[in-house]
Amino acid sequence: MKVFTTTREVQQYLAELRSKGLSTGFVATMGALHHGHLSLIAQAKRANDIVICSIFVNPTQFNDPADLEKYPRPIAHDTQMLEQAGCDILFNPPVSELYADNEHWHLALGEIEHLLEGEFRPGHYQGVTQVVYKLFNIIKPDTAYFGQKDYQQFMVITKMVELLDLPVKLIMCPIIREEDGLAMSSRNIHLTVEDRLHSLILSKTLNWVKQNFDRNNIAGLQIKAADAINAEDGVSLEYFELTDADTLQPASPHTKSVVALVAARVGKTRLIDNVLMN
Ligand code: PAJ
Repeated sequence: MKVFTTTREVQQYLAELRSKGLSTGFVATMGALHHGHLSLIAQAKRANDIVICSIFVNPTQFNDPADLEKYPRPIAHDTQMLEQAGCDILFNPPVSELYADNEHWHLALGEIEHLLEGEFRPGHYQGVTQVVYKLFNIIKPDTAYFGQKDYQQFMVITKMVELLDLPVKLIMCPIIREEDGLAMSSRNIHLTVEDRLHSLILSKTLNWVKQNFDRNNIAGLQIKAADAINAEDGVSLEYFELTDADTLQPASPHTKSVVALVAARVGKTRLIDNVLMN
């Protein structure tokens, strides 16, 4: 695997590959890699000649400085995992390589920016689109792979690609879970042994709602789900919502495709998860 830390070098190398007509698949990450990330690499490998992964803990998308500070950065282990997964290129730039001082970015993403995650993490999606735009611009991938785990993020990036007419195809990949149901996340290492047990209420409740899904009882399901999560020790719910999977507006009995999305603090760790109902 080739490892690059500068924009100029990775661009030069990719230009050569592209001139040979090779197709490129891109997976953007913040590192602390797990099987969720590796599933995106595997999907990219199946459909492209060359797979590029970026590891960059993007400061502009963290609204909580303590969260940025404690974000895990096990780069040696990550590099080894990518080698084993057959990734071709790792792009791992320092912050100064991607950001100039006093840089301003604002994209009119519309209402979706302020819903759900946007409400609890103001400015988060401006930071996400800012860095993903930069990465797309440097890597120029044919196809980019993102996880359903961050459902709203996928919708926001789709919106950016439409707004700016970017020449990249986006693919959403399924959520990879631990055997007991917990969605894999780089933040899971912060969970204490007790938190880890309590965290299961999120996937359990999502599954319960899916099994009992009734489009004529959306409000009732939401209340039961919220009650179940709030009743769990050490868990503090931020939101549990059944929404239109295309717009993230509240679902109604006429909504074609519904997604249940949850965010909660388990101990000191903030977790998100979701399940499509149909
Ligand atoms: P990060 O949280 O590292 O996630 C990188 C990619 O892996 C995202 O597309 C995310 O949805 C996906 N992913 C995470 N956990 C997953 C799981 N359990 N199953 C499947 N896919 C999973 O998301 C980000 O980084 C950043 O916001 C980024 C897009 C890199 C911009 O900084």
